[in-house]
Amino acid sequence: MAMNFIGSKRSLITKIETVLRRYDVPLTGKAVDLFSGSGVVSRLLKQMGYQVLANDWQAFSAALVSAAIMHDVFPIFHDLWESGEVSHTDVLAYLNELSPKEGPFVEAYGERGAAGRLYFSHDNAMRIQAIRDQIESWQIDGKLSPEHFQWLLAVLVEAADSVANTASVYGAYLKALKPTACKALVLKPIYPTPGLVAGHQVRCEDAVSLLSQLQEGAQTLIYADPPYNERQYSANYHIPETLVRWDFESFIPRGKTGLRPQMDQRSDYCLGREAKRAFYALFHAARPAYWLVSYSNEGIVPKNELIQAMPAGYTLIADEEIDYPRFRSDRVSETRQYLASRTLEYLLLFSKST
Ligand SMILES: C[S@@+](CC[C@H](N)C(=O)[O-])C[C@H]1O[C@@H](n2cnc3c(N)ncnc32)[C@H](O)[C@@H]1O
Repeated sequence: MAMNFIGSKRSLITKIETVLRRYDVPLTGKAVDLFSGSGVVSRLLKQMGYQVLANDWQAFSAALVSAAIMHDVFPIFHDLWESGEVSHTDVLAYLNELSPKEGPFVEAYGERGAAGRLYFSHDNAMRIQAIRDQIESWQIDGKLSPEHFQWLLAVLVEAADSVANTASVYGAYLKALKPTACKALVLKPIYPTPGLVAGHQVRCEDAVSLLSQLQEGAQTLIYADPPYNERQYSANYHIPETLVRWDFESFIPRGKTGLRPQMDQRSDYCLGREAKRAFYALFHAARPAYWLVSYSNEGIVPKNELIQAMPAGYTLIADEEIDYPRFRSDRVSETRQYLASRTLEYLLLFSKST
């Protein structure tokens, strides 16, 4: 079971596919998933026949989407042991059996760690420490290709997520271990996605900065699904991010929840005074044949302003509104009473007319 990701379009996949087919968007050439998050839309685009360029500036999202689209079949590991080729099942079995160990992850986020943050049971925190250290040492020794490294990291992020002692995201931990957090962590394989063409890529940078490096007009489709409210992903997913970056030497987890320094990942789409300008800059940074944009009626930028941010030469050809189940943590939020009773997910398709 993939991790619970805020804003994941998992339940909109069929709708996205239907819109692309209904409006005759060519299913060939390059498609860019600019804010790939959990990677589910990139998976779809790959299956539909595109050559996919997936991007998200969170390192753990880039790992998840890499695991989703950079493998047509399950990875086979070549250089880990002298015995030659090793299947993904054997590698995961080996990692699942590693002896637990102490370390900075246990201290910062484990049940008996010095920081007193109850994100993981003592045993799971020590196993995460051991598994992540082992992956790091294989990587340092040059035994993993970038795609194999990312696949293992994504597998660990998902396994850790399923035993994390949180309500859903990592903005806070629960006061006592919940039943699923007491279960033993188990690494499970992430399924490959067969595609019709080769040459898929994953990047991990700011969306506009990525677009500025691409050849203008060379993309069939750019899909944009940025954050729509004030909730910064960096604060809600700081532990998966640390699990992937594994950079304890460069920061001290701060505050009650053990946050990373996150000024570098403060998204303009989450800031009331910046969001509209951010859309304008985004839509003016590339000229694909089609833009597909996901947004919400609860978003910072009203729909008409979002449409106005699109440069001249694009026509809105599909304007879909889909009833969408609210993300689970919203139901318990203090602002619940202020939220509209219906959440609508917008799916806007623009085509280049000139
Ligand atoms: C709504 S989520 C995307 C969900 C994704 N479509 C899915 O189905 O899982 C928004 C994503 O945008 C990323 N993000 C926010 N600001 C960004 C920026 N300036 N550049 C690149 N990624 C950004 C966040 O890290 C987050 O993963």
